[in-house]
Amino acid sequence: MTAQETLQVRVVKKQAEAEGIASYELARLDGAALPPFSAGSHIDVHLPGGLTRQYSLCNASHESHRYRIAVLRDPASRGGSVAMHDSVHEGDVITISTPRNHFALHPAQRTLLLAGGIGVTPLLCMADRLARTGADFALHYCTRSAERTAFAAEIAASAIAPHAHFHFDAGAPEQKLDTAAVLAAPGPDKRLYVCGPAGFIDHVVTTAKALGWAQDHIHLEYFGAPAQDTSGDQGFEVRIASTGKVYPIAPDVSVVEALRKEGIDILTSCEQGVCGTCLTRVLEGEVDHRDMYLTDEEKAANEQFMPCCSRARSKLLVLDL
Ligand code: FES
Repeated sequence: MTAQETLQVRVVKKQAEAEGIASYELARLDGAALPPFSAGSHIDVHLPGGLTRQYSLCNASHESHRYRIAVLRDPASRGGSVAMHDSVHEGDVITISTPRNHFALHPAQRTLLLAGGIGVTPLLCMADRLARTGADFALHYCTRSAERTAFAAEIAASAIAPHAHFHFDAGAPEQKLDTAAVLAAPGPDKRLYVCGPAGFIDHVVTTAKALGWAQDHIHLEYFGAPAQDTSGDQGFEVRIASTGKVYPIAPDVSVVEALRKEGIDILTSCEQGVCGTCLTRVLEGEVDHRDMYLTDEEKAANEQFMPCCSRARSKLLVLDL
């Protein structure tokens, strides 16, 4: 991650949105306007106890008086969601980053938004934006049950309603998401956005690709990407093959970030090992793969890696740059 500007905000409202899900409205201490954001953006939240977690903004992107996030309490997670639920209360002051967007909307004739559970948060913001601009879109929102469906009433009462489809795992078969039917007609003017747990995303992306969707028309953001234990990370060196120059990579700095500081820019998008944008060929050295983009076979081949998140097992990596 690159260094982010931070700001202090107050939790002006904390509200239960569904079983296990709370939303938090954050505002500046002096009531001034917050930095602007676009649909699909997220913020880092610095939690009590030193944890930092990313949460998508799920309010309308034209609003400047608040940021709203929603958090599913997941005791099986790495502790961020439990800390948010148990230790962050209305009236508290917390530190957040300014918003950044790795999941931006692209112009399209038709846009499909597929949400799994709490993965609805960035898509809700997108749906609001699309509804306000009169765009052709559909929001398919899959959850376990109505009780676990955050923002259902809000969606039903909004301009998103005519475009929204709810699908409950616990519901009748005919209301379940027919992924193949929804994705049946790909085209150059269509875009697909998916957010949710890894299994949901994998199912949607696999189906989309099998139906002929182009990779660059599928946009995804994993919710709850598997945690990496970074506590034992070591420094290593990277050599740029074209110049022969060697750069140190500190234990807590990504290859992308370290090289960027040296004026060597690698194109990135998600910076979390999901999108594939930063794919770089490796000529020597052993990679410690941390991404969710390459297949197990590609990782084992050790010929390419994702410098936004992956590291080295060897002391040196030689990159084809
Ligand atoms: S920038 Fe997305 S995988 Fe590296």
